Amino acid sequence: MTDYKELVDAASAAVGNATDLAALGALQAQFLGKKAAINAAKKQLGALDPDQRATAGKAINEARQQIEAVFSDRRDSLEQAARLVQLEAERLDLTEVWPRPARGHAHLVTQARDRLEDVFVAMGFTVAEGPEVESAWYNFEALNIPDWHPARGSFDTIFVNLGEPEEVMLRSHTSPVQVRTMESQEPPIYIVAPGRTFRTDAADATHLPAFNQIEGLVIDKGITMGDLAGTIDEFVRTFFGEEVKTRLRPSYFPFTEPSAEFDISRDDGSWLELGGCGMVHPNVLRNCGIDPEIWQGFAFGFGIDRLAVMRYQLDDIRELVNNDVRFLRQF
Ligand code: DAH
Repeated sequence: MTDYKELVDAASAAVGNATDLAALGALQAQFLGKKAAINAAKKQLGALDPDQRATAGKAINEARQQIEAVFSDRRDSLEQAARLVQLEAERLDLTEVWPRPARGHAHLVTQARDRLEDVFVAMGFTVAEGPEVESAWYNFEALNIPDWHPARGSFDTIFVNLGEPEEVMLRSHTSPVQVRTMESQEPPIYIVAPGRTFRTDAADATHLPAFNQIEGLVIDKGITMGDLAGTIDEFVRTFFGEEVKTRLRPSYFPFTEPSAEFDISRDDGSWLELGGCGMVHPNVLRNCGIDPEIWQGFAFGFGIDRLAVMRYQLDDIRELVNNDVRFLRQF
């Protein structure tokens, strides 16, 4: 009995010093293998008296179980430690991928356009689009600008050499999308139409020959100038900030009656012109097959590039198209 306790203690001490699974395996052969003392003791049982044999056999089995337990405990903890070492060795730190690939971002004007769309979509509008090359009907006539109308000249239109003279053009504003939408959709209509527009303007600090506008159109029953003013106010406050005020000033556009220009307030108390708006002219509604006795609406339009210039207080609108990454990276 004493011998076995010593044996278990010896095994336990040796196992405690085994620092890896290979060392533990070697010790296992020593303490539990064929030539191990515990097995030798078992072989000698046959030489004992039957009653002694039973007691001795039981003692040997218990000792063996204790030694086995010592090994399996140690194996568990060594395996767990080995697993931790392996996990640490195989760890991938995904935040430290290097060299980091240079990543671009959306252009300032695209960001402004996306935000504008978000603001109007949140107010219940959907986004509409139209072609950049237009006919005189969509760019002018349907918008109540017949060919004798002096307003035609004010649009500085870039014509395309196609069909009759001055019949095909790069659209000079996004207002033709109003017409296309009213032709193809039954009222009520609530849309905004952002897109590229073109004029013969030479590029300078405040003009670009290719620029971006966003058009708004609402057609519903009982729409008034109050709805127009409220919509513009809501949009401006969401886009520029709660403290920014708006005002409408009487103006003239052939496609709206009455027409107005809308301004936003600046910190120094002055006003900045943002765009044009008004109640959709009955002629425009009729041109698009909508009965002005039943439906009314308002429209507005303004330049997205100019909006970006105002919002970020740029000195020169041409910065937007110079494609100088040192400039673009700031936004
Ligand atoms: N199309 C006009 C322009 O480019 C802007 C505009 C004014 C659009 C009044 C509108 C509007 O829808 O109602 O100068």
